[in-house]
Amino acid sequence: MNIIIAENEARFDHMAAWTIISQMLVKPCSVIGLSTGQTTMNMHRIVSEIYQANPFNTSQVHIFNVDELTNLPRTYSGSCYAMIKSQLCDNLNIPEEHFIMPPTFSSDFDHECREFEQAIEKAGGADLQMLGIGWNGHIGINQPGTPFESMTWVSPMDPVFEARVRQETKVAEDYPLGGLTLGIKNIMHTRKIVLIAKGKQKAEIVKQALLGPITTDIPASVLQLHPNCDVLLDADAASML
Ligand code: GLP
Repeated sequence: MNIIIAENEARFDHMAAWTIISQMLVKPCSVIGLSTGQTTMNMHRIVSEIYQANPFNTSQVHIFNVDELTNLPRTYSGSCYAMIKSQLCDNLNIPEEHFIMPPTFSSDFDHECREFEQAIEKAGGADLQMLGIGWNGHIGINQPGTPFESMTWVSPMDPVFEARVRQETKVAEDYPLGGLTLGIKNIMHTRKIVLIAKGKQKAEIVKQALLGPITTDIPASVLQLHPNCDVLLDADAASML
């Protein structure tokens, strides 16, 4: 793993943004996986600003998000589809058919999982995955305990995140919510992974994931085995290394 430490959050956001821009410039038909959340919002805004100041041809780029909520409409502002579309795809003129996302409603999510994987493969396979890390080391929505050989599946959500979604959407307590996520095996098959984390609240889990044992208790620790994984941190997230 190649660990890169940005001196502050602003530098982190710019370095992360340029990773995406560079990927699209070097390989115009890139297939790029993103993550939603606090870590990536500024990065997506800066990618959009760079593109708008210096437009280039994005007609061959494919974008997907590593995960998506299930059983909520795509129009919910917290769906990954809505966030990536408004934060990035619309701003970069990514063709709608090049935005690969599973549906949020289905009578057969197993089928949707296979379709999602196949759509990414058909586009050429993932070249770059910008990968966030959860407070407990989850990647995508693969929570602690998920087997490393997991393929795309519908997982329970992070309980903290689920509580927030339930509060925002006012769905009944017994209404099923879940998270369709690329499995750990799918993520590991990406040609290049950039694990991104910023802020003091990520420092402890970053230390465990990068320097601790490789264990399903900390899903992100599997990235120690990836042959082409960069870790981009701000100084706060790197403070315990
Ligand atoms: C959620 C998403 C992940 C993301 C993680 C970190 O669980 N499903 O893909 O990486 O949160 O989010 P944040 O950047 O807000 O800390």
